[in-house]
Amino acid sequence: MTQTAALLGMYAAALALSFAGCTSHTSSAPGGKKSFGTVDGKEVFLYTLRNAHGMEARITNYGGIIVSLIVPDKNGKPGDIVLGYDSLAGYLRTTPYFGAIVGRYANRIGKARFSLNGKEYALAANDGTNTLHGGLKAFDKVVWTVDETYAPAEPSLALTYVSKDGEEGFPGTLKVRVVYTVTDSNALRIEYFATSDAPTVLNLTNHSYFNLADSGRTAVLGHELLLDAGRFTPIDAGLIPTGEMRSVAGTPLDFRTSSQIGARIEAKDEQLLLARGYDHNWIIDRTGNGLVRAARVAEPKSGRVMEVWTTEPGIQFYTGNFLDGTITGKNGVAYQRRAAFCLETQHFPDSPNRPEFPTTVLNPGETFTSTTVYSFATQ
Ligand code: GLA
Repeated sequence: MTQTAALLGMYAAALALSFAGCTSHTSSAPGGKKSFGTVDGKEVFLYTLRNAHGMEARITNYGGIIVSLIVPDKNGKPGDIVLGYDSLAGYLRTTPYFGAIVGRYANRIGKARFSLNGKEYALAANDGTNTLHGGLKAFDKVVWTVDETYAPAEPSLALTYVSKDGEEGFPGTLKVRVVYTVTDSNALRIEYFATSDAPTVLNLTNHSYFNLADSGRTAVLGHELLLDAGRFTPIDAGLIPTGEMRSVAGTPLDFRTSSQIGARIEAKDEQLLLARGYDHNWIIDRTGNGLVRAARVAEPKSGRVMEVWTTEPGIQFYTGNFLDGTITGKNGVAYQRRAAFCLETQHFPDSPNRPEFPTTVLNPGETFTSTTVYSFATQ
């Protein structure tokens, strides 16, 4: 079976399971659960999802954070390919969203406000004059409830969170469910579901920082990236889209054929200078709204290959431009600039203020669904 066919089959099975919401099994999170500490007076846990092929994800219900993701290299040697902390204390102290679920609105909303059905909503300005990643205490900083009844055949973790009407300025009581699954074919699947009791806007992603070579000890500039995207949304100095949807042709943002992340990152290109590297939303080539490949990253030394498949229209490729060595993460590694990259599947930044972009409005009676699959292989 090709990788594509395997993914699509897996996806159909996953949808059937996830919509059911729960099964008759009573166990949860095969691989185990252990205490990870206390937040807001609530004990939080670290769950291990492990398959039979050497892949293992450790995820906490604080922020839904992927704390570690172990994937074998070309010699079968396991290695952690995401940045983060050894303990909860690090995440509580300071984090650039390491591994977290991001919402209600992933990435930026310009001028920290938007209008919906004629009413204006004010949000927290936590990134200059703009809102970044949902505000001050957003989905990455809350304790999620674990759905202990959800126990399908594959190792999974189902998290739910009810975001109150007005939380971080967003309207509507929003019920969110995020399901993580480590599949038998070495993929991490993330499914998102949401409903609201009033019209609202929504954009959900996961903010894992990947380094397929050495857990963040050295920069990712030698990783080879392919993006299945012929256009991107140019940004202004505040990293807010200008509204244009521009061809990547002839720019350093053209990754339609695989090239090293570092090959053109220092180019004197207006867009790269504004972001101090790559920190842009690419418009994924697609017809329809099914699961398509958005990215492929190959790391020559380890032989690890990661593909990103998604139902979302966009993907933020970010090269850890704000990392500066001040954060010491797992195993005492100080994360230097560009020690990792993020591939955040998403709707386009600032969509609530951009009617020309695909809509991020969720109305009562609708169910928001989104799926992203990070699949792993070696070469
Ligand atoms: C996203 C943004 C970046 C940065 C990181 C978090 O990727 O696009 O600009 O804010 O999150 O540091």
